[in-house]
Amino acid sequence: MEKTSGLHQNMTSIFLLIGHLIVVIPLFSAAEGCIICDYFVLVGEPTAITCPIITLPVLHSDYNLTWYKNGSATPVTTERDARIHQREGLLWFIPAMLEDSGIYECNVRSLNHSNKKTINLTVFKNDNGLCFNGRMKFEQKVTSTNTGKIICPDLEQFKDEDNNQPEVHWYKECKPGFLEDKRLLLAEGENSVLIRNVTVQDRGNYTCHMVYTYMGKQYNVSRTISLEVKEKPLQMQPEFIYPRNNTIEVELGSHVVMECNVSSGINGLIPFWQVNDEDVDIFDKTYREQFYEEGLPHGLALSGTKFNISKVKVKDYAHKFFCHFIYGSQEFTAYIKLERPAQNIQGYLIGGGVSLVFLVFFTLFIYKIFKIDIVLWYRDSCHPFLGKKASDEKIYDAYVLYPKNRESCLYSSDIFALKILPEVLERQCGYNLFILGRDDLPGEAVISVADEKIRQSRRVIIVLVPEPSCYTILEDESEKQLAMHSALIQDGIKVILIELDKIQDYATMPESIRYIKQKHGAIRWKGDFSERSHSASTRFWKKVRYQMPSRKSGSLSELHLLPKDLNLP
Ligand SMILES: *[C@@H]1O[C@H](CO)[C@@H](O)[C@H](O)[C@H]1NC(C)=O
Ligand SMILES: *[C@@H]1O[C@H](CO)[C@@H](O)[C@H](O)[C@H]1NC(C)=O
Ligand SMILES: *[C@@H]1O[C@H](CO)[C@@H](O)[C@H](O)[C@H]1NC(C)=O
Ligand SMILES: *[C@@H]1O[C@H](CO)[C@@H](O)[C@H](O)[C@H]1NC(C)=O
Ligand SMILES: *[C@@H]1O[C@H](CO)[C@@H](O)[C@H](O)[C@H]1NC(C)=O
Ligand SMILES: *[C@@H]1O[C@H](CO)[C@@H](O)[C@H](O)[C@H]1NC(C)=O
Ligand SMILES: *[C@@H]1O[C@H](CO)[C@@H](O)[C@H](O)[C@H]1NC(C)=O
Ligand SMILES: *[C@@H]1O[C@H](CO)[C@@H](O)[C@H](O)[C@H]1NC(C)=O
Ligand SMILES: *[C@@H]1O[C@H](CO)[C@@H](O)[C@H](O)[C@H]1NC(C)=O
Ligand SMILES: *[C@@H]1O[C@H](CO)[C@@H](O)[C@H](O)[C@H]1NC(C)=O
Repeated sequence: MEKTSGLHQNMTSIFLLIGHLIVVIPLFSAAEGCIICDYFVLVGEPTAITCPIITLPVLHSDYNLTWYKNGSATPVTTERDARIHQREGLLWFIPAMLEDSGIYECNVRSLNHSNKKTINLTVFKNDNGLCFNGRMKFEQKVTSTNTGKIICPDLEQFKDEDNNQPEVHWYKECKPGFLEDKRLLLAEGENSVLIRNVTVQDRGNYTCHMVYTYMGKQYNVSRTISLEVKEKPLQMQPEFIYPRNNTIEVELGSHVVMECNVSSGINGLIPFWQVNDEDVDIFDKTYREQFYEEGLPHGLALSGTKFNISKVKVKDYAHKFFCHFIYGSQEFTAYIKLERPAQNIQGYLIGGGVSLVFLVFFTLFIYKIFKIDIVLWYRDSCHPFLGKKASDEKIYDAYVLYPKNRESCLYSSDIFALKILPEVLERQCGYNLFILGRDDLPGEAVISVADEKIRQSRRVIIVLVPEPSCYTILEDESEKQLAMHSALIQDGIKVILIELDKIQDYATMPESIRYIKQKHGAIRWKGDFSERSHSASTRFWKKVRYQMPSRKSGSLSELHLLPKDLNLP
């Protein structure tokens, strides 16, 4: 048995898109475009070649069509049992042999008309180990997810004696059995296979095969189709890009462009604006809609319409603006609502809070720097009111303790305690001091004096010097120290420490002094010990005055009239 098969390579020119199917149109109705038309057949298979001419004589009744081999004057025989013969306008090879490859001519002749066409037949062999030749395939396309159809082309001529089409068998990649997939259906009598729910796995080489019987001999006829699966183009439901049933805040009188954008898989959607159940240009004559359309990636299209509200009016806040479009039989709607901007209370609150916190910190900062000046200024300016409040049983504003000088000591604590201190605090500021060694009467018992006077004082000023070897405070007056200690503890009298120079080592100091230093700190004297006048408004004296009680009575000017005598020893 011999194999024959006729194939037409330039199939792309005879594919027609019907729905989602590529259908091969019978050859005689196409192929006219080619100058030398190419035909292919597998060696050993039969083929019947049609003349690629459609002319009026064909449609009219009377014409003679004659085949010639490559310019030969002798027509191809019409003997039915010749391997190559012409019959009913077709050129038959039963079967085709490799040497049949070459040029053939068909001549159409009617009474007053003649036409000639040349064809080029190629007889090919299968690729090694395959049931087809990779270069001799029909190309067909189906679309994923759709139902697709594979058609076994050009079988019309191969009818048996009873005019029946022989049974067609299918192979995929030269293997049978793929039809067991439930998605695939053999379309009887149509020489085709239906594929439902096409997937990319369906692409491949499909070979259809049938047996043609001619003059008692059987011949194979096969076609191979290369099936491509096209991804279904995104055919999404159109949807609003904007608006999305949202509100926007716009100021009265401001300019707003009202845009409505719809994305879809098709062109030609026409969205439109409505408000208050009428078109926007009826709602307001100045609202002129403008339609636009542009392409988006992935084959999508954007359809839009917009209009300007050049000055937002009060009535614009009263309604929702609806954008509609119609797709299929459905109407789609989305709206946008204009709102007047709310007073931004939160913003104010946050802003106010921040400035308040800042103000507080700033005030604290200023207060920390100028605390002393502020308090002193306050005491001065509010003196009359303070005077009334501050009444207690005390006689002295401060009790002054200082180490008595010895020879060979650098620090003139005597001068400080007996001259400078009274000069400033008493004479200039009007305080009343008790200075041991100035104000005690000779012969009085030191302990009892100290105890009594401390209790009568509002403050205790202790002058410290950094020379423990030279002298220590209250060195030989432990009773006095005790008294002072108890007074401090019991009466809560405030102690003001004044260092006449930096004291490196407090360890040698009594415990109570260390405690006070740690708790309240000390004020260091940086001035000299000359007896010139010292100003009460230096930093040092301001610190001291700050620690002193506010003055009880009298003003500075008054007090200047009552200077205390400085009884220096
Ligand atoms: C025809 O095809 C069948 C199956 O493909 C094969 O077995 C047989 O040998 C072929 N016949 C000829 C004459 O090539
Ligand atoms: C066709 O015939 C011409 C001469 O008649 C020859 O030269 C040429 O090679 C032939 N072509 C084919 C394809 O047989
Ligand atoms: C066709 O050929 C036949 C026989 O050769 C002849 O009688 C007839 O006139 C031809 N017809 C045309 C239209 O040439
Ligand atoms: C052939 O030509 C004659 C006149 O010359 C005309 O009447 C006739 O219609 C033509 N036939 C065809 C088929 O064109
Ligand atoms: C006929 O087709 C074969 C194969 O495609 C090609 O090699 C050859 O050149 C063609 N001949 C003509 C005359 O077009
Ligand atoms: C179809 O056959 C060709 C060889 O002609 C091969 O390269 C290709 O991989 C086959 N296609 C599939 C899907 O197997
Ligand atoms: C094709 O897909 C649809 C929906 O995905 C499904 O309902 C149907 O059963 C599938 N058909 C086949 C033959 O698999
Ligand atoms: C609507 O589409 C146009 C055109 O692509 C674009 O310029 C505009 O920003 C879009 N508007 C909105 C609100 O998405
Ligand atoms: C909207 O106003 C702008 C200028 O603000 C103008 O360019 C545009 O053409 C106007 N569009 C319509 C539809 O009136
Ligand atoms: C927007 O509002 C319209 C009409 O009120 C409604 O039909 C639509 O479903 C809404 N869309 C969304 C996304 O809520």
